[in-house]
Amino acid sequence: MEPATIVVLGGTGHLMRRKLLPALYRLAGSGRLAPGTRILGAARSRQMDDAAFQAWAAEALAEAGLFAEEQTPRWCRGCLAYQSVGGGTADEFRALGSRIEALERAKDQPANRVFYLALPPEAFPPSIAGLGAAGLNRSAGWTRLVIEKPFGRDLSSAQALNRLVHQHFDESQVYRIDHYLGKETVQNLLVFRFANPVFETLWNRDRVASVQITVAEQVGVEGRAGYYETAGALRDIVQNHLTQVLALVAMEVPGAFEADQIRNEKVKVLRVIPPVGADDVVCGQYTAGRIDGRAVLGYRQEPGVAPDSTTETFAALRLRVENWRWHGVPFYLRTGKRLPRRLTQVIVTFRRPPVSLFSSMRDPSAIRPNVLAIAIQPDEGFELGFQVKAPGQPIALEMQRLRFRYAEAFAPLADAYETLLLDVLQGDQTLFVRADEAEAAWALYAPVVDRGAPERPPVYVYPAGTWGPAEAARLLADGEQWLPS
Ligand code: BG6
Repeated sequence: MEPATIVVLGGTGHLMRRKLLPALYRLAGSGRLAPGTRILGAARSRQMDDAAFQAWAAEALAEAGLFAEEQTPRWCRGCLAYQSVGGGTADEFRALGSRIEALERAKDQPANRVFYLALPPEAFPPSIAGLGAAGLNRSAGWTRLVIEKPFGRDLSSAQALNRLVHQHFDESQVYRIDHYLGKETVQNLLVFRFANPVFETLWNRDRVASVQITVAEQVGVEGRAGYYETAGALRDIVQNHLTQVLALVAMEVPGAFEADQIRNEKVKVLRVIPPVGADDVVCGQYTAGRIDGRAVLGYRQEPGVAPDSTTETFAALRLRVENWRWHGVPFYLRTGKRLPRRLTQVIVTFRRPPVSLFSSMRDPSAIRPNVLAIAIQPDEGFELGFQVKAPGQPIALEMQRLRFRYAEAFAPLADAYETLLLDVLQGDQTLFVRADEAEAAWALYAPVVDRGAPERPPVYVYPAGTWGPAEAARLLADGEQWLPS
């Protein structure tokens, strides 16, 4: 891997402090960054300079528990620089370009550049246009553009953003982040399916009764009301993280384990899902409640939230994947803040046996189905529930579990941002969302999230610390329940 200059626009922001800087520091510390790789923080402040930025970074690393006496300040001094882009004028973008060239010249290094937009979404268009106008979209080496989520706020804004990106950058230069794709357990969905024929042969409508995907969070809005009030659960989690997991669970086998082949299959499966109508969605908003014995505020009482806000903090949905493999198998998605615990999981419920041979259970519907629970986080791994004969007479069945846990087999898992940053530097787009994929994902939810959408679903309330509004149960087929609930 060749050295590069990583230019972080929004270089003194929350994402840089909490995620990017610690990830880059860990990558450097474990020798996974090419020697000479530099990080140039670019932000509005005209007062800040290299030394102040390096001190700020050392403090951020200390806060992340990563401070080592001499080593951290040395790394900050050697690898970090700062450039103001103040009001984002053309002159300021040109000055940014000159600074990058000066850094490259000083060490006689190739013009390999990453521009990482760690910015609020309204700053994406002027920054992309500013980089393009200053000629920073090309270089003598390679130039890559990383765009954080949310990529647009509905289908038409995502299309407009893609058009702007493509005016200045080729799609092969663009890395749209969905950090869920950087999680080892999300990538493992592909290995689990395509390296284990025992599961892949069961992965269809003949054997699967339903699929549930849950992203449950214990946290509330975490002081991000300014953003969250304009987003809500459908835009914040459903359109991206949940839809990405859904695509990996439902896609067909790609021809090769290669970025575009995998992304082609993801787009194909998203395109056979009919857009959800309001009848397929139940939204909720948390009221005051208790989590782990601690009293927490309701959403409308959180700082910065309108007292009459109707923003959804919970969404449950029912989707149909209308292809040969999945016709008739409901896919249920669910996410919420202030739920009882943090849990992201995929539950595949298999069909029950058609008849029961066991006298204690003449009714096949009384037999619990096989269930595969894939834990994406925490306690990463999976469990397969199957029936065994409980010892003794008369014959009785009992559900037991085959279990795999990452923590028991491997060292702690790397943070998603380490994986994603390394992939950007290596030019591997597999774990990034392609333009058509981002649009296909928005198209699914267009009837409920588009500006002036005619079908805005009602928002029910649920007390913090519960699994969401009871109304979510109406999405499920008879005899099914949300797991957990
Ligand atoms: C972010 C959302 O994309 O993902 C947050 O904006 C959410 O609202 C977060 O809390 C969840 O990520 P993780 O990795 O903690 O599951």
